[in-house]
Amino acid sequence: MNLIFALLGVFILNTSGSSLVLDATEGREARIVWYGARLQSEDAAQLRQAGFASQSAYPAYGLKGTAATALSAIQADGNHTLDLRVVSVQESEWEHGRRIEILSRDAVYPFTVKNVFLSFTDEDIIETWAEISNLGKKPVELTRYDSGCLSIHVGEVWMSSLYGTWANEGRLCEEPLTRGWKVISNIDGTRNSHTSHAEVMFSLDGKPQENAGRVIGAALEWGGDYELRVQTDDTDYHKFLAGINPDNSEIKLTRDETFTTPRLAYSFSGEGLSGVSRNFHRWGRNYRLAHGDKERKVLLNSWEGVYFDINEPGMEQMMSDIASMGGELFVMDDGWFGDKYPRKNDSSSLGDWVVDKSKLPGGIPHLVQAAEERGIKFGIWIEPEMTNSVSELYEAHPDWIIKAASREPVYGRGGTQLVLDLSNPAVQDHVFGIVDRLMKENPGLDYIKWDSNMDINVHGSQYLKEQGRLDTEYWKGLAKVLDRIRAAYPDLTIQACASGGGRANWGVLPWFDEFWTSDNTDALQRIYMQWGTSYFFPAIAMASHISATPNHTVYRTTSIKFRCDVAMSGRLGMEIQPAGMTDKEKEICRQAISDYKKVRPIVQFGDIYRLVSPYDGKFASLMYATPAKDKAVLYWWKIANFYDEHFPAVRLCGLDPDRKYVVRELNRVDLRPMAIEGKVFTGRFLMENGLVMPASNDVEWSLKSDWSSRVLYLEAL
Ligand code: DGJ
Repeated sequence: MNLIFALLGVFILNTSGSSLVLDATEGREARIVWYGARLQSEDAAQLRQAGFASQSAYPAYGLKGTAATALSAIQADGNHTLDLRVVSVQESEWEHGRRIEILSRDAVYPFTVKNVFLSFTDEDIIETWAEISNLGKKPVELTRYDSGCLSIHVGEVWMSSLYGTWANEGRLCEEPLTRGWKVISNIDGTRNSHTSHAEVMFSLDGKPQENAGRVIGAALEWGGDYELRVQTDDTDYHKFLAGINPDNSEIKLTRDETFTTPRLAYSFSGEGLSGVSRNFHRWGRNYRLAHGDKERKVLLNSWEGVYFDINEPGMEQMMSDIASMGGELFVMDDGWFGDKYPRKNDSSSLGDWVVDKSKLPGGIPHLVQAAEERGIKFGIWIEPEMTNSVSELYEAHPDWIIKAASREPVYGRGGTQLVLDLSNPAVQDHVFGIVDRLMKENPGLDYIKWDSNMDINVHGSQYLKEQGRLDTEYWKGLAKVLDRIRAAYPDLTIQACASGGGRANWGVLPWFDEFWTSDNTDALQRIYMQWGTSYFFPAIAMASHISATPNHTVYRTTSIKFRCDVAMSGRLGMEIQPAGMTDKEKEICRQAISDYKKVRPIVQFGDIYRLVSPYDGKFASLMYATPAKDKAVLYWWKIANFYDEHFPAVRLCGLDPDRKYVVRELNRVDLRPMAIEGKVFTGRFLMENGLVMPASNDVEWSLKSDWSSRVLYLEAL
């Protein structure tokens, strides 16, 4: 069948639930005829003949009128136009799907583009990217080089995207696509998910719904500067384009050089936004995230507990406390290093990765040993891509920082922070050496929190000849370093942190096990941030910590139960000084950690169903269910407190209607069990009618608060 289609120039890429139909006829422009629900072969075959308009798969600038373009290049003779025509198509199988490569060549110039489409059958993901080659003798300047272009037929199409800032990452924006351009761009350089995200979803059937309707999701797999654009003009299509942000990043392709764009991953689901999230989560765990099949440890991080006030007895006390609450890992954050310039605050020492002996006389080996004695693992914070002007590293290598020629450096955090120029191989060796030395000296080190607290706020490489390549070469350099680290230390757990949630991105995550979702650990605001972040990133990667109250960022006071219930919907951890907790609080956390361990596989490997959005009402709710639908965990959080409030039932999803489930509450603090405790319901009842949660927790007087939440565990009989 495929052969017959190929003769007609039609190529089909199917996943379990979606189809991409390409029209790649020799001598003509490559086009996309269809992307959406999986088609029957007969339908797919006749789409083109039946007048379904195809749209350019990779529109190039110059001969296309006013339509949005994915590629623009200036030939050596100054010609700004491109006329790409299909030369050949290659189809092949790979272990988890199929691959189609369409090679096009300019009608006049020795310039080619290969558009690759790769399917992940079981996860309903199709990736696309472009390989752009200059086959001529003289350089060709690329001024835009997107990863792909997808045209979406008009209708009532809405776009869901994420925006925010430091301490407010992953906020959800839902808007109908109207005439004109919608552009989401980022130029943060070292991290890219604070103010916006490189992922979007398009709901094709009107206002976005979590568990119904056709949705297309797109995620650009790039950790650096990006631009996502949607053009809605006077045609029948919204044109979506995504790629590296080309601003000030022109690339001169030399003879025979090929530039490969980052991958752009699409997913289609007929089961609403949550359906697309489940696809991205599964694909992320299976193919992108480091150790996506390994349970994450429950940890205590020292940052909000002691900030820079690191010392040996203090670290040991925190280790004892987390071990006694059932935790499995202790992570020592910032403040442990610096010899000539000891790190007392954020204005010095980055780059000088030697232990501050005045704080830690026994060094790291002593702490690793101390953790082992307590039956837990030890982890450490570093910020290896950075330095401070007050550091021995900077004194030795002022030429290693990102800085424009003939200009003074531009400083970041602490008034002295600088970004190291990772395009420089000497810097790459230095950064690899930091981890290599730590690991060689401390083979028991289990976890690294890899931070990045400064963006690239100045354009200039002291190493590169071609300044337009700063963004792409920085990321290539970082990739080389991370490849070396992963090759040498494959079992190491590494967290991607960038002033909180600056590196929640499928471009950078393949080297990391998880990301720090936000520096804001306030449980209420986390419900919103984690809701949005869960659109594309699975709970296993979303670090979510129980912290002190009043919260250190928003100063809100929440109950310990509420903080536990929110944190345990992600990768549970703690970020608090346990010495300041009451015995009762510790007991509640101990219970939460123990309960979390019971449901950890469901949370970390299960399917998400977002049920009630915090943006819509007075409570929020989501759940995870196993793919086999035999176990599930439901979270319910009240987000506003008024007397005389009456809450509707929350209807569950993802269960088997014909199975029966017993309901048990986790993290219970109430004096009496809820009436539904231990009761058995059919999946059908739970999905059609749902459960009503009491407006308040029924607790002893000392625990009464304006917060209320529930975590329910459901198990099929
Ligand atoms: C920013 C991170 O997001 C925090 O968690 C903490 O590690 C600090 N950096 C340390 O400087």
